[in-house]
Amino acid sequence: MPDPALDVQRCEIVLRVNGDERRIAIDTRATLLDVLREQLALTGAKKGCDHGQCGACTVLLGGRRVNSCLALAVAHQGAEVVTIEGLADGDDLHPLQEAFLQHDAFQCGYCTPGQICSAVGMLEEARRAGDVLDGDEIRERMSGNLCRCGAYVNIVDAIADAAPAAS
Ligand code: FES
Ligand code: FES
Repeated sequence: MPDPALDVQRCEIVLRVNGDERRIAIDTRATLLDVLREQLALTGAKKGCDHGQCGACTVLLGGRRVNSCLALAVAHQGAEVVTIEGLADGDDLHPLQEAFLQHDAFQCGYCTPGQICSAVGMLEEARRAGDVLDGDEIRERMSGNLCRCGAYVNIVDAIADAAPAAS
């Protein structure tokens, strides 16, 4: 007799991802990160630690930055999700994407989608609060996004440079 605890519970949810409505049948235990990567083929958000410690999986959920490895997809029925794939406007890069290129703010690039999505959310938080950010403040507010390559100096420069255009 099958163990009911091992039965996979499935349900259908609707998410608005990068402007498109997506109706998806999911395992109720699936994280938003796994749904994005494995069911919607949006592999920009990366799985680094899968424990909320590195920020590689950062996306914007309802306009706020979140670690998508810690978000259960089923809990976000109808939510607006923006991933790194949704930031550019056609061929026009988002100001933060452009600044990361200009400042050479990456080496392997694994953390970069999370860094950029997190920076978009962080600058919006600062704009709403009317906060002016210096380098130390940017470093503090981006401390949830780790870069194993240690590209922090250029990452902070890129964010500072893009802040006026991105917020
Ligand atoms: S993969 Fe989500 S925080 Fe590391
Ligand atoms: S660029 Fe390699 S982890 Fe950040």
